[in-house]
Amino acid sequence: MMKTSTEKQWPIVRFRQDLLAWYDAAGRTLPWRIRPEDRQSGIVAEPYKVWLSEIMCQQTTVVSAAPYWRKFLEKWPTIQHLAEAQRDDILAAWAGLGYYARARNLHKCANTVIAEYGGCFPNSETKLLKLPGIGPYTAAAIASICFDQPATVVDGNVERVISRVYQIDEPLPKSKSVLRKSALELTDPDRPGDYAQAIMDLGATICKPKNPKCDECPWSFGCLAYQAGQAAEYPKKLPKKQRPTRYGAVFYLEDDEQILLRQRPDKGLLGGMMELPGTDWTHELPPVDHWMSQAPITRNWQALDDNVVHVFTHFTLQLQVFSSIGPYQSDGVRADLSDLEKFALPTVMMKAIKSARSTPAE
Ligand code: ADE
Repeated sequence: MMKTSTEKQWPIVRFRQDLLAWYDAAGRTLPWRIRPEDRQSGIVAEPYKVWLSEIMCQQTTVVSAAPYWRKFLEKWPTIQHLAEAQRDDILAAWAGLGYYARARNLHKCANTVIAEYGGCFPNSETKLLKLPGIGPYTAAAIASICFDQPATVVDGNVERVISRVYQIDEPLPKSKSVLRKSALELTDPDRPGDYAQAIMDLGATICKPKNPKCDECPWSFGCLAYQAGQAAEYPKKLPKKQRPTRYGAVFYLEDDEQILLRQRPDKGLLGGMMELPGTDWTHELPPVDHWMSQAPITRNWQALDDNVVHVFTHFTLQLQVFSSIGPYQSDGVRADLSDLEKFALPTVMMKAIKSARSTPAE
């Protein structure tokens, strides 16, 4: 017998209702979030604040992003302030969050919103998508959370939740289009902003990668993976390729409580960030002469015993640190050791500086 359209809709309508009821009662309070009860007193989500939070939360947890978000709003309370800031100050404030292209694009995006939209973010997903650094996820998040457009967010949390609810056996990333289709069907047309935040909260707090709390989940009634006793086994994933290692060296040169830094080229990994002068990064461990020929000055360099190891998305970097203390002549920036937070130093360079400072000079 043909199913009526109400019957076909049955689990979907209940999924929406139960998720939103759960969110109303148990969703997180986040610094940039306007909770449903706050909206009743007329408070609305501000696109500038939401945009910043969504860019910061990519590849980072809400807990790690929150202090950065507060710092940015203190320094640059409006998009106009951010557009007028020096890019290097934005990179310095971003230092530690990683994926630095996001910080470079923040500045570009702020300037585009000022130039093309008079400082107000557009409300359509299509227009948002054209802005620098805004991809499908961020466009949908801003459109739904700030403008209540029926846009669908799909991030890693959402993919995990949906792969479990529908017990999708096809592994990621192949299953992405199937997951997106189901995500689109599930989106609540009446409260899309709350729905987007609810499904992401569900993924982050209940439908967690390793130990899902299925007994607290509003969707366990219809979750196929849960009913099969296999929630934690989803999403299926293709085996990961092994991350290759690259090798390089950096030179820590200290004199009179200052160290030598230089700026990386704008293009490429860590573009525009500051660094200790260093060598190229090679696929094989080179002879020490290869590194010494790239030292900023000729010196009796002390090789530190422990390498700095840092994991990037596509490779692991193993850095040998060479250190020397005493007067020098070299191009570059002399940075006060007591004021390093003024400089856009990525985590890998902070690790190298810490390692050099904790090793007594010979
Ligand atoms: N993670 C990233 N953005 C989020 C949001 N708006 N709500 C919940 N979790 C998130």
